Amino acid sequence: MAIVAPSLLAADFAHLARDCRICLDAGAKFLHFDVMDGHFVPNISFGAPVLTSIAKAVPAFYDVHLMLTDPLDYVPMFLKAGASMITFHLEANSPVDKTIEAIHAGGAQAGIVIKPATPAEDVFPWLDKVEMVLVMSVEPGFGGQKFQSGALDKLSALRAQAVKIGRPELLLEVDGGIDRTTAPLCVNAGASVLVAGSAVFGAADPAAEVDFLRSL
Ligand code: DX5
Ligand code: ZN
Repeated sequence: MAIVAPSLLAADFAHLARDCRICLDAGAKFLHFDVMDGHFVPNISFGAPVLTSIAKAVPAFYDVHLMLTDPLDYVPMFLKAGASMITFHLEANSPVDKTIEAIHAGGAQAGIVIKPATPAEDVFPWLDKVEMVLVMSVEPGFGGQKFQSGALDKLSALRAQAVKIGRPELLLEVDGGIDRTTAPLCVNAGASVLVAGSAVFGAADPAAEVDFLRSL
């Protein structure tokens, strides 16, 4: 069984609480919250005040994906807003160890994200320090892009390394272009958490999509 993390970026913002509840009722364990600063990525999404409101209205495990140039500066406000997990990019400017420590000190789980061009091996030094690694299967910034299959080898390499260092339970998340076709490939390669935006919220029956992905 995979953990499903519907990406709220593709939800109807006028009915965010309703959309979150539909996903949770269908068995989604995480809600994926994409934060973009218009600098690290060429798009702006939503910030901590939105998380504060939605986390209060719909208590859940909020998986916050920071696409920010300086993620460390913003960790405190997302912790306060209700983040359960905070992931940040290895390609960003913040010192990795310090950022992991700040997230843990606030009582949340921590994860490192890598873009399509970043080799899996670059995260190996931190595999024993984080709860999750997120492999991007599209360039971060926008939903609705095509899955890049280069993510599969990276997932396999990370799963193998996690097993090798005695952390087989490490969460491996994949994000971008995940649907009924690409999700099984990712799970076979070692992914345990599936982010899906368009595939869930673009479907006639979002609950059925969550249920299918969860069954993998
Ligand atoms: C892209 C975001 C994704 C995005 C995925 O930068 O990190 O979480 O919402 O959208 P889909 O599932 O439509 O590719
Ligand atoms: Zn994301």
